[in-house]
Amino acid sequence: MEPFPADLIAQIATKLFRESSHTPTTGVPAGVPHGVPAVAPDNIRERLPTIPGMASHPNPLAIPEATHGSFPNVPHAVPVHSMNPSVAPSPMPGSMGSPTMQSPANPTELFGRAAPSASTPAVRPMTQDGLQRFVHGVRHQTPVQRNDCLGGEATRVRTRYDGIAAISSPTSQGLDVGSIRNDFPILNQRVHGQPLAWLDNAATTQKPQVVIDAISEFYATDNSNIHRAAHTLAARATEAYEQARTTVAKFLGARSEKDIVFARGTTEAINLVANTYGLRYLKKGDEILLSMVEHHANIVPWQMVAKRKGAEIKVIPVNDRGEIIMDEYLRLLNPKTRIVSLTHASNSLGTILPVAEMAHMAKRYGARVLVDGAQSVSHMPVNVRSMGCDFFVFSGHKIFGPTGIGALYIAEELHDVLPPWQGGGNMIKNVTFEKTTYSEAPAKFEAGTPNIADAVGLKAALDYVSRIGLPNIAAHEHSLLENATQQLSAIPGLRIIGTAREKVSVISFVLEGHSTEEIGKALDQAGIAVRSGHHCAQPSLRRFGVETTVRPSFSLYNHAGEIDRMVDVVRSLARK
Ligand code: ALA
Repeated sequence: MEPFPADLIAQIATKLFRESSHTPTTGVPAGVPHGVPAVAPDNIRERLPTIPGMASHPNPLAIPEATHGSFPNVPHAVPVHSMNPSVAPSPMPGSMGSPTMQSPANPTELFGRAAPSASTPAVRPMTQDGLQRFVHGVRHQTPVQRNDCLGGEATRVRTRYDGIAAISSPTSQGLDVGSIRNDFPILNQRVHGQPLAWLDNAATTQKPQVVIDAISEFYATDNSNIHRAAHTLAARATEAYEQARTTVAKFLGARSEKDIVFARGTTEAINLVANTYGLRYLKKGDEILLSMVEHHANIVPWQMVAKRKGAEIKVIPVNDRGEIIMDEYLRLLNPKTRIVSLTHASNSLGTILPVAEMAHMAKRYGARVLVDGAQSVSHMPVNVRSMGCDFFVFSGHKIFGPTGIGALYIAEELHDVLPPWQGGGNMIKNVTFEKTTYSEAPAKFEAGTPNIADAVGLKAALDYVSRIGLPNIAAHEHSLLENATQQLSAIPGLRIIGTAREKVSVISFVLEGHSTEEIGKALDQAGIAVRSGHHCAQPSLRRFGVETTVRPSFSLYNHAGEIDRMVDVVRSLARK
């Protein structure tokens, strides 16, 4: 690349400064010049050479600030009614949450043990305040009075489902878990003679019938390659695939479906960014900031590219609760920081990171920000624009969709800045043996025949989640998390690893005198699936002096009876 002459850079910077209507005035970390222009076409900025003598002013063309900042995890587009379960839209007919739910013949069978009575309910209805607080993030410090959860609701929600009223009544403020479970055929089975309790949702989620049907119907009626032929099935398949892209864009609050690239999942999406942005723009001495609680998928690709380019990985430490130490983060940010790549929620500890705030700070230094949403998208509303990230990635299988499909959001300003990654069909405009020109994004990043059927399945999954409503899901999971945290904490010798004030519904624990594998096996014998191991996040566990943990993780179809069963097994192990 030809270097830009320094005087041209100065002219561009001056022009942008004059034209910019936005001069950041708040939240500027020490050492960062105020008054730098906030709006810059990124393809200019990315191509800027290092300017000799400008070390004290390394970022003449700063990136726009996040447009919203007050509630990092809550899209401003969420209507108030959707945050309030009492006025939330009714469940969709025919599927989850339907008032016409089938009564399970025997609640004990369905839930594996006598469900809690109305006086010790399974789900605490969320107040408006509580729901807002949860959607924004779980705060463990809030004391929970389990016994007055339902209050005056107790009588009203007693239905013919009786013992499971608190979790199944269509009129209660909690999710209609009994009905939701009917949407997931896999849950209706026994393992080692016990009803399956799927508490391994951070590893993968189960699939509702609507997702299974969408995939099978696609293959039964519409299957064709896409973007390539004039026939009817090609048109149908192309439309289905592109509708899936539109659904993902809306789900993430992206500006346009053009910002969405399909990938195999989070891992492939991060590799795509590392191998395009990283390989093209990183240079010797540049720094990549990662947090201590990253999944290996957000560590290894950066290590590989850093090694090739002579860049360095720097690690943002966490405190004893597993929360980012923001002062340390600020201290680590500097003009050499090129990329900040953060998990939105830790898969091993559950910590929700303040990614909007962190992105905002990173951009003051001209760094690019990637957010790994693998563990957040199924638990809380996401809006990539209010988050202010450049890249956002997630996997379909963590949000009730199929494996082998996921998405990468790329901010528009980077579409032309990023080179293509893999080459092949679909991503080109014109090919000769001498030269190839590339398609625009997103096709530029989707070489070859994509995973069409699973994109269709992912659309069905996102539609399903949207019909239930993430704030409702969040409220339900919050209740499960609090319940499990309280009960497990009371077991002698049990240590919870990761006690952040803002958590998704993941608990990691170890039990004195028992290996995590032994606990995992004992739970399996009781029909309860949890993950035990290092969770592909070894540095995060080593920070707490452990190599492995047991990790139950909860989702919309879990209920308090399953938590009680898990706690019983762990408690009886603790007594041995
Ligand atoms: N990332 C997955 C987990 O946390 C596999 O278990």
